[in-house]
Amino acid sequence: MGGQRTLSVLLLLMMGVVTTALPATTGDITTIVDMTSTVGPSSATVCGTPPLNNKIVGGENAPAGSWPWQASLQMSDGHVCGGSLINKVWVMSAAHCFASSDPNGWNISLGRQTLEGINSNEVSRTVAEIIIHPDYNNFTKDNDIALLKLSSPVDFTNYILPVCLAASDSVFNNGTDSWVTGWGNINEGVPIPSPQDLQEVEVSVVGNRQCDCLNGAGSITDNMLCAGDLAGGKDSCQGDSGGPMVIQQNSVWVQSGVVSWGHGCARPNLPGVYTRVSSYQTWIDSHIKTDKPGFVQFISSGVDADSDYICSDGPTTTVDPYPYPYPYPYPYPYPYPYPYPYESIFDHGHSLFSSVYLLSTLFILMFLTI
Ligand SMILES: *[C@@H]1O[C@H](CO)[C@@H](O)[C@H](O)[C@H]1NC(C)=O
Ligand SMILES: *[C@@H]1O[C@H](CO)[C@@H](O)[C@H](O)[C@H]1NC(C)=O
Ligand SMILES: *[C@@H]1O[C@H](CO)[C@@H](O)[C@H](O)[C@H]1NC(C)=O
Repeated sequence: MGGQRTLSVLLLLMMGVVTTALPATTGDITTIVDMTSTVGPSSATVCGTPPLNNKIVGGENAPAGSWPWQASLQMSDGHVCGGSLINKVWVMSAAHCFASSDPNGWNISLGRQTLEGINSNEVSRTVAEIIIHPDYNNFTKDNDIALLKLSSPVDFTNYILPVCLAASDSVFNNGTDSWVTGWGNINEGVPIPSPQDLQEVEVSVVGNRQCDCLNGAGSITDNMLCAGDLAGGKDSCQGDSGGPMVIQQNSVWVQSGVVSWGHGCARPNLPGVYTRVSSYQTWIDSHIKTDKPGFVQFISSGVDADSDYICSDGPTTTVDPYPYPYPYPYPYPYPYPYPYPYESIFDHGHSLFSSVYLLSTLFILMFLTI
């Protein structure tokens, strides 16, 4: 089954570790926004334009301040989920991060670079209110989105800024270049090493039709958005849940997805699944009355390669539930690992070999009986 990407420090951002080295600034922080004003600029005017992000597509290391909307949602001083700051007082995350809408015990950390040690730019807030999407489905993970109201607003700095959100008419063609950030596991079951720097990974959108074929027919709803590297090795993972997937358009960073679920992490042909932020503009708008988040329409040009995608091995694709390395090693290990990974001939794809094996056995038996 699909694993949700919650729990402490799990996840799979396999790219370079974000460096902690700060530009040599002393004392003063130069900002593009007026931080002394008690009112300050509206979130919609400053969203998605971090002054310290000079990311080039294909780049690897990002200094502190690259992803100033990244939040760590903590319980009992431990990281549980990611989140994103969307205005001065609201953080967006995934519904599956919360057992209930009781805000007690949560502590939201912003402006943070490492989970361990001192973070001079860090600011934390307790939570006044948690709004879980009323149609969140804990089994299908449909509508996996939640809003958290901070106990008091935060001031924007170079290290704490809101992200813009994908507006409802946004289009993300297959292959759209995206970035995911978080403190989750760097591989299945492997937490990020000390001092637990914020990780970033570059992934590409995988269209819903192809993603549905790969993750299991019927598993991907219109409210989901997939991304990954079909070759494997790049993905979000446990502990990244609730964190942002962002796309840059005309120098503005727009959040397209919320880390939601996946089969394992970074496995080949199993892209990660994200909540499709653009499906929720109306819902978000209905809960945030003042200092509205900035909604930006993301446009993909050209024809979406996914628009007429048909599952290559029929519409009934299912996913092997066992955490067994893929592709399977050859020759097969003996004794076979348990649970037996080469299920039935009705299982597709992975068990092609076993179907061939079974069929040839049948042929030999038929031959012998003649
Ligand atoms: C919240 O987290 C910050 C940073 O880890 C910590 O300094 C602070 O004491 C925490 N606050 C509460 C109320 O737990
Ligand atoms: C949601 O499902 C997970 C398993 O996927 C389970 O551990 C959890 O308790 C469920 N939560 C609720 C609120 O039912
Ligand atoms: C979608 O994009 C990925 C690269 O990100 C590519 O591997 C895949 O073949 C594309 N799908 C289609 C249907 O073109």
